[in-house]
Amino acid sequence: MPTRVNPSQVATVISDPKSVDLAITSRFSARAFLPNPVDRSLIEEILQVATRAPSGVNTQPWKVYVLQGAARDRLVARVCAAHDLVYRDPERAKDFPRDYDYYPLQWPPVYLERRRENGWGLYGLLGIGKGDKDKMHQQHQKNYRFFGAPVGLICTVDRALAAGSLVDYGMFLQCIMIAARARGLHTCPQAAWNDFAPLVREEVGATDQESLVCGVSLGYLDPHDPVNTFDAGRVDAQSFTVWRDS
Ligand SMILES: Cc1cc2nc3c(=O)[nH]c(=O)nc-3n(C[C@H](O)[C@H](O)[C@H](O)COP(=O)(O)O)c2cc1C
Repeated sequence: MPTRVNPSQVATVISDPKSVDLAITSRFSARAFLPNPVDRSLIEEILQVATRAPSGVNTQPWKVYVLQGAARDRLVARVCAAHDLVYRDPERAKDFPRDYDYYPLQWPPVYLERRRENGWGLYGLLGIGKGDKDKMHQQHQKNYRFFGAPVGLICTVDRALAAGSLVDYGMFLQCIMIAARARGLHTCPQAAWNDFAPLVREEVGATDQESLVCGVSLGYLDPHDPVNTFDAGRVDAQSFTVWRDS
């Protein structure tokens, strides 16, 4: 597999850095998509570009199931049914153990605050109040419909690998999302699928050796759905940057 570095990789000058920046800064988590299909060639291009993501000792630990059409719809139907079941009987959640903890069990205050801001910001925008459990459930379930996107990616990694491979995977995922932006597409990375990992694995035909990393919705965003006006915001770089010059 190793070859020589392509001379263009060395010589390439990014003549329009703004386009690169724009592909990054215009990415956000879209939560409503149009049903318009996405050309397979575009999806192939995006995944091919993303292969250039770095990974420790070039492990390239990613595996992606691209779900469209009936395969997508079957997964959606099964997981939505399971999600309803768990809503009615929370005890059933234990039938679907996650492959890894994406979130901490105990949240340090600063992150808990950001999590709350994010959740209530989104629900507030949609007019969903704190006690409105049914509406919250319905909104959450849109995750399991890929927010209406015609393409769903299910991302897995070999269980035998270590935490570093999740670092690699994050870079790969970001490459996918940026390459999607460069082609007029939007995405939403989704840890929500992890809550039904065994079901997802079975439905997509993944083996037990594969650990579910996350799902990704991919498609053309619905510009008229208010959910897509939600901006999660960010703290400035200076708030987390420590300069040591001497
Ligand atoms: C790995 C990963 C998993 C995520 N899982 C979900 C999810 O299940 N559902 C969802 O609506 N958003 C999910 N998000 C989106 C985050 O909420 C979002 O990235 C964050 O609030 C920042 O907003 P932005 O992506 O719009 O800039 C996930 C993001 C990442 C990186």
